[in-house]
Amino acid sequence: MSEVVHAPVMLKEAVDLLNPHEGGIYVDCTLGGGGHAKEILNRVGERGHLIAFDKDRYAIERSQKVLAPYLDRVTFVHRDYRFLADVLHELQIAGVDGIIFDLGVSSYQVLDPERGFSYNYDAPLDMRMDDSSATTAADLVNTLSEKELGDIIYRFGEERWARRIASFIVERRKKAPIKTTGQLTEIIKAAIPAAARRKGPHPARRTFMALRIAVNDELSGLEEGLRAGISFLKARGRIVVISFHSLEDRIVKRIFREYAASNILQILTKKPLLPSEEEVLVNPRSRSAKIRAAEKTVIAG
Ligand SMILES: C[S@@+](CC[C@H](N)C(=O)[O-])C[C@H]1O[C@@H](n2cnc3c(N)ncnc32)[C@H](O)[C@@H]1O
Repeated sequence: MSEVVHAPVMLKEAVDLLNPHEGGIYVDCTLGGGGHAKEILNRVGERGHLIAFDKDRYAIERSQKVLAPYLDRVTFVHRDYRFLADVLHELQIAGVDGIIFDLGVSSYQVLDPERGFSYNYDAPLDMRMDDSSATTAADLVNTLSEKELGDIIYRFGEERWARRIASFIVERRKKAPIKTTGQLTEIIKAAIPAAARRKGPHPARRTFMALRIAVNDELSGLEEGLRAGISFLKARGRIVVISFHSLEDRIVKRIFREYAASNILQILTKKPLLPSEEEVLVNPRSRSAKIRAAEKTVIAG
């Protein structure tokens, strides 16, 4: 796995919007490979501090190496960012100058042939970012009802063949449990009519994304994390979110608007910022990225 590199998405745009200042306290809710974290640490200087969350223990381990020159300025937190408020209380931090979220999965996770995130590698059907959490993708696929599976694949994957895929999964698991990414990919291919499979992305892409979102409970965690983050921002502190999925972006937009309506936040990005054409060419993972940012108002306290 040493050849895999996660190129941070919209690095300059995101960190410029966060606007880290010397000596400030910042939170990176999604440390990943430490790309955004490193840039923030460079800007906050020796008196600054970064609290870095990742629920994937491998991301924490890898970033500890990447951030080795800055270790005295980083607190690593191996937890879901939905517990941001609890963690900041435990650390006795009353307010922070900025918070960044770079949502979804990292290349380290997707390109790890053993973690079951990808239809490109045959592996146990896992998809957990946190390998100590209870439910794997195989658990969902083998235990949920056909309706529940169809709903997940339709809602989180925006897959038009969701109901057919769910029905094929349920038929297939009557014979034997579905255990691997390879088996699931075959079932999806069988469920989607050949003509529809010939164009567009890999036929399993949407279903895999949907299951990943469900396994890691990504959407409800995001709402909790955003609300906690906003409540801990100091006046003029900033929150920056990079999202990759319309459902994520909708949550960010709704919550920012809600706090802006009560004068707690001022929205800095009327329209979300998108990656440049050059970045999309060099880093295809950035193609669906959207950045939204907001600043805590002075009167909010
Ligand atoms: C897109 S990557 C972040 C990449 C990072 N910004 C960089 O520059 O390398 C997202 C990371 O966030 C983590 N993550 C996703 N949801 C999380 C959550 N709810 N709590 C904590 N970490 C989460 C994932 O495990 C993954 O490592």
